Amino acid sequence: MIRRTFCLLFILTTTVYSFAQTPKKPSQQKKMGDFITNLMSKMTLDEKIGQLNLVSVGFDVTGPIVSKNVNENIEKGNVGGVFNTYTPVAVRKLQEIAVKHSRLGIPLIFGYDVIHGHKTIFPIPLGLASSWDLGMIKKTATIAASEASADGLNWVFSPMVDIARDPRWGRIAEGAGEDTWLGSQIAKVMVQGYQGNGYDTNKVMACVKHFALYGAAEAGRDYNTVDMSDRRMMQDYLPPYKAAIDAGAGSIMSSFNEINGVPATANKWLMTDLLRKQWGFKGFVATDYTAMWELIPHGMGDSIAVAKKAIDAGIDMDMVSEIYLTHLKALVKDGKVQASEIDIACRRILEAKYKLGLFADPYKYCSEQRAATTIMKPAYLEAAREAAKRSMVLLKNSNNVLPLKSSGSIALVGPLADDRQDMIGPWSGAGDGSKAVSVLDGMKNLLGNTVQINYAKGANITNDPWLVERLGAGVLQMDKRSAQDMIDEAVAAAKKSDVIVACVGESSSMSGEAASRSEIGIFPAQEDLLKALRATGKPLVIVLMNGRPLTLKWENDNSDAMLETWFAGTEAGNAIADVLFGAYNPSAKTTITFPQDVGQIPVYYSHKNTGRPYAGDFIDRYKSRYLDISNDPLFPFGYGLSYTTFSYSDVTLNTHTIKPGQPLQVSVTVTNTGKYDGEETVQLYTRQMAASVTRPVEELKNFKQIFLKAGESQVVDFTLTSADLRFYNIDMKYTYEPGDFKVFVGTNSRDVKEADFKLTE
Ligand code: NOJ
Repeated sequence: MIRRTFCLLFILTTTVYSFAQTPKKPSQQKKMGDFITNLMSKMTLDEKIGQLNLVSVGFDVTGPIVSKNVNENIEKGNVGGVFNTYTPVAVRKLQEIAVKHSRLGIPLIFGYDVIHGHKTIFPIPLGLASSWDLGMIKKTATIAASEASADGLNWVFSPMVDIARDPRWGRIAEGAGEDTWLGSQIAKVMVQGYQGNGYDTNKVMACVKHFALYGAAEAGRDYNTVDMSDRRMMQDYLPPYKAAIDAGAGSIMSSFNEINGVPATANKWLMTDLLRKQWGFKGFVATDYTAMWELIPHGMGDSIAVAKKAIDAGIDMDMVSEIYLTHLKALVKDGKVQASEIDIACRRILEAKYKLGLFADPYKYCSEQRAATTIMKPAYLEAAREAAKRSMVLLKNSNNVLPLKSSGSIALVGPLADDRQDMIGPWSGAGDGSKAVSVLDGMKNLLGNTVQINYAKGANITNDPWLVERLGAGVLQMDKRSAQDMIDEAVAAAKKSDVIVACVGESSSMSGEAASRSEIGIFPAQEDLLKALRATGKPLVIVLMNGRPLTLKWENDNSDAMLETWFAGTEAGNAIADVLFGAYNPSAKTTITFPQDVGQIPVYYSHKNTGRPYAGDFIDRYKSRYLDISNDPLFPFGYGLSYTTFSYSDVTLNTHTIKPGQPLQVSVTVTNTGKYDGEETVQLYTRQMAASVTRPVEELKNFKQIFLKAGESQVVDFTLTSADLRFYNIDMKYTYEPGDFKVFVGTNSRDVKEADFKLTE
């Protein structure tokens, strides 16, 4: 009772301030500062350390340790935040313990992995990125924030902005792909979508992850070592984190990996010198799941030593390890850690709670009524369908086999053709696979009885018992029939149909976290099915579902069409049917290079030229190339077809010489030369021919999306200035250097028209 009275008094005396908005004005900043100073003056060292403790309640455990005695710890003031639980009811229960039963009544922050939607699941981030539609990507984050905040949450572990160039790494699915510039644009709009202009009730705080360089794990093996030059780091891998921070991201997550010998979670250079001093980040840093504990196996010392290293590095919140909770107090008492270090971390976390408006109303995100009217509402499902359509990359379309006719008969086959659960993809947290639309459902929804659909599963995703066991019991729905019986059934369906649509690829459990693969092709069970289908001589359309680029050489050579649908989310089947039958003309372009073979990895468009560049001249052996395969990818960055065709005029420039600051106008006329109206993403790249350090053969600098009716033309203009040509030079200064440049404009990074210009002093 005494506690409750104190708590109410506490709230009443503090609500005179305006809590709900991020303080922007100095006066608001001061109010927040005074409020927190006042609160902290009442806090014991234990209570301050408690704020640094983030515990997991419930499901979605991604590591070996699970938080214990959570309710008791909340009551004692030993918990600052909770993740892995949601719904207004569940959140309110825990919040009540903190607010009504802990000594100071400090509210908890509630986090969760809302990666590509909360309940309405959008395509995986790699798919969303393929849309190149920044407005739409922002909208998906806005909807995710709206649903998550209606479901008790106020903090999302997203966006994942790790640049990744190795498709063996399963988490390539969670990011925007290989390109730094595009990745930075996407990072920015996602933060804006989640957070808005302040934390209104339908907004949440973003947590940018995984800081840093997690996507560069050696050999694509998850959690593996990262060793990288400063130049590559600054130039290629760090800008998306910076872009997210510049967009106002409230928090950031430290990554599991080491960077040049020092794990991110103990890395003072990264967390303090770069993040705080150079970049001016003002939010708080939480570790990844047990990342502080993992400093021990990394070789950073025992649990006491790693507690000190993490706090000294600048880590504010400990996710699940309880290393801070266990050791910080003694470290302060022994004079090994300064009390002021704990004050700084505690203040940052309290500030986040203040900005979210939790001191004003700890139950701000706990409205059951709002949950009921917000979650999965029709407008959100419509947005998911739109996002899914715009994410699908048409990789091949010989003889215009697509779009399919809405008449006759179709053999719909493959282990993913009538699958719902996998459609929502990896890290779909609160998503409910049973609510997703399968391709079979989607076709029936679109076509009714106008097309005869002959469905057969045809194969399991894999029959490899070792892999099935590793994925875990019940993860793959294994059909007990023999492989041959299943193939025979599919072939029979194919023989009585006009065209075959084969839905093949990965299960969602085969990409995402802890899902690295050394071979990234279609599994033999599905390959056998495809070969048997090919042998029928019927047109073969392959619909791919996967979280990474697969090696698809055989499939490309032996199919009539291939549509990359990634894992397209709740509305997958409806959107796939829309695309296959031409209700939507595909417009997406891959943001990750598809290798021909796993041995080419890493293969990415913005590579260096080398001193012995290979230009397809087989006579000269001593070039940078392979003996057994060309250097070319199967599909380059930026590639994606449409049902129509686009032609590009030559590139024209307003001048061939610019001075620093002076604009260069780059123009090209794009014409829709096909039979369908369609959308094109016109891409602009540059190359500096010589500089104080070597430069990539191409770097994306801009793009424009245009919609052209059949036969229509449009002039597309871009403006480039010296600011776009900056890079980390020989002195690690981010600047431009005068010299000769090429500018390329085209439909993808390979098929471009070019022009030359000079940047003078
Ligand atoms: C581990 C993952 O690396 C991270 O992305 C996620 O946010 C945390 N687990 C919390 O679930």
